[in-house]
Amino acid sequence: MQQNRNIQSCSSEKEAVGKSAAMAVNDGMVIGVGTGSTTAYAIKEIGRRVVEEGLDIKAVPTSYQSEMLSIDSGVPLTTLAENPVLDLAIDGADQVDANLFAIKGGGAAQTREKVVSCSANHFILLVDESKLSYTLDHFVPLEILPYARGIVCKQIEEMNGSPELRMANRKDGPIISDNGNFIIDAYFGTIEEPEVFSKKLSLCVGVVEHGIFSNVDEIYVGKKDGNVEIIS
Ligand code: A5P
Repeated sequence: MQQNRNIQSCSSEKEAVGKSAAMAVNDGMVIGVGTGSTTAYAIKEIGRRVVEEGLDIKAVPTSYQSEMLSIDSGVPLTTLAENPVLDLAIDGADQVDANLFAIKGGGAAQTREKVVSCSANHFILLVDESKLSYTLDHFVPLEILPYARGIVCKQIEEMNGSPELRMANRKDGPIISDNGNFIIDAYFGTIEEPEVFSKKLSLCVGVVEHGIFSNVDEIYVGKKDGNVEIIS
């Protein structure tokens, strides 16, 4: 199903789609807020609604980045320990396909993003048109136990993938996730059956969580003309 919304006076597709998602948040909801530059617009707009309109919500952040932005924006925070079931989760993505499968983790936050989105009754992804693809072929971010780096790389190669440890830069060494782990970006080419592939990745020893998401309910697509298309 497809619907369209027009969000006036936005400087970018990311801002249009972020503001549109903030409109899906209603009084009394407990929501999950994702990580990244697109979701940042949603968090800021939700904060504006809390401060200016008295919107009564609480949010569970998916990273230190979204936690700090939520605090700065005036979004009241809670935890999954206090609220294990969320009404809604909103997040960005690196790539989405025609069947609502997605790849996430460009910001190294996919583990908490998956926990939060799987705790939600409804999961909305926010993207611009450049993230749409008929089939998934983006690299898959894997959060891994640092201790298991060697065996994870071996398993990825056995699946005909090319693993690459994500580095901050050569001098500073590997990126460390909010959970204290390493990130491996695994290149597999085209992923024909994301759900089957996702299950195989979940079986890899040493992989804490991977970036293939199979639990998306709606995708909000920001267009250059300020329209937002909703795909479900
Ligand atoms: C964070 O780990 C990611 O899953 C992001 O949600 C994803 O990379 C999209 O980020 P942008 O909105 O910055 O493109």
